[in-house]
Amino acid sequence: MQAIQIIQEEHRKLWRVAITVDSVADEIDAGSAITPAFFEAVFDYIETFVDQAHHPKEDGYLFRLVRQRSDKAEALLASLEADHQGGPQRLQALRASLARAGQGERAAFTQALRAYTEGLKRHIRLEERELIPLAKEVLLEADWQEIDQAFLNNKDPLFGDQAREEYRELYHRIVALAPESVGLGSQSAGELKKGAAPKQEVLLKVSAMESCYGRIKALKGIDLEVRRGETVALVGANGAGKTTFLRAVSGVQPMSAGSVQFDGEDISRLRSDMRMRRGICQSPEGRQVFGPLTIEDNLRLGAYTQPKNQVEGDLEKIFAMFPILKEKRKLPAGTLSGGQQQMLAIGRALMGRPRLLLLDEPSMGLAPLLVEEVFNVIKTLKAQGMSIILAEQNAFAALAIADRGYVMETGRITLSGTGQELIHNEQVRAAYLGM
Ligand SMILES: Nc1ncnc2c1ncn2[C@@H]1O[C@H](COP(=O)(O)OP(=O)(O)OP(=O)(O)O)[C@@H](O)[C@H]1O
Ligand SMILES: [Mg+2]
Repeated sequence: MQAIQIIQEEHRKLWRVAITVDSVADEIDAGSAITPAFFEAVFDYIETFVDQAHHPKEDGYLFRLVRQRSDKAEALLASLEADHQGGPQRLQALRASLARAGQGERAAFTQALRAYTEGLKRHIRLEERELIPLAKEVLLEADWQEIDQAFLNNKDPLFGDQAREEYRELYHRIVALAPESVGLGSQSAGELKKGAAPKQEVLLKVSAMESCYGRIKALKGIDLEVRRGETVALVGANGAGKTTFLRAVSGVQPMSAGSVQFDGEDISRLRSDMRMRRGICQSPEGRQVFGPLTIEDNLRLGAYTQPKNQVEGDLEKIFAMFPILKEKRKLPAGTLSGGQQQMLAIGRALMGRPRLLLLDEPSMGLAPLLVEEVFNVIKTLKAQGMSIILAEQNAFAALAIADRGYVMETGRITLSGTGQELIHNEQVRAAYLGM
């Protein structure tokens, strides 16, 4: 049933686009300017991806086989197929309405947008709540094989690797062009690069780590390892101890027991600035950028343990990765949007030339559209060979990009495994993924 996972992932993405469009519509109603390029990016994405690929695939395999196996599915299937068929025409109408919005028909445009996203959401809900459960009930093993084969065919012109690359590009354009309140408001999204570093050697080894706040023991004996080039997710609910752990690794939080080995050296007793010199750099929870300081000065702060002569070059590298930060380098950091501040916090950590990057909840408080973009930045760093610990409440997204993960509960590691193993673990799914 891998096809179902693919469909559901695509639904989640589409849902994010829908709620983003809704909030942009609200802003337009409140007087904001209409950015045609943003809407064109949204329409292009839906046209290319949804109408030309997602729907035909569902029609051709899933719907066809459900119809064969069940006689109570007809009404549901007919209504879903009618939605699919009408898709291109509805999109045409929306494009026309966008053109008229430029000539003053703003209210009509936002109304049309809302009607469209309403329809989209209703359609997704129907598939998720009725069609998929029905398919799981009536389809036979052989049916699933046929469907999965079609959905996983990487050579398929509509659904293969190359096509998916194109959809991802289109999706990035939406994020880049969205207004700052919901997107980056600039083209600062990270690019995806292929090829990761070798992953055998242990870089960080934490053994039996304990840490207390007064008499309360927040970490109760943590064992955790990061190999070179690995992205390790640390997931767990609110208050599990993720932040305490990262702070104890970077040395700003005292340990009461246990040891930390980094690159073969016992650093358990080293001060935090000495650990930073060795390459352990943290992007803290809640971003914590210095609001009154300029963006450039915030970045320079991240390099205070570094030799002066390399700072300018490193700044340029960060600016190349996050062009929006370059554009605004002389402005106070407090003027940045939440997503841009997160980029700044990551950029500041990168200025310390990390060999191990600690990211504490980089997706916290971000608009849904941006969560994925921040994860793309992390994927880029990973692809460049960076070793990363990613602490997240957003377990699904973190595990999806991680090589390995640890599940933390009230100061203890309760499960560990590869990212994929944990994503598919029933216990993890029930507890952390809200499924
Ligand atoms: N400064 C503090 N003083 C006392 N107790 C604290 C302090 N900071 C954290 N704690 C406690 O330590 C435990 C672990 O907290 P921690 O912030 O490390 O969890 P977390 O997994 O990062 O949670 P979140 O997802 O909310 O960021 C919690 O029970 C918390 O209440
Ligand atoms: Mg935390």
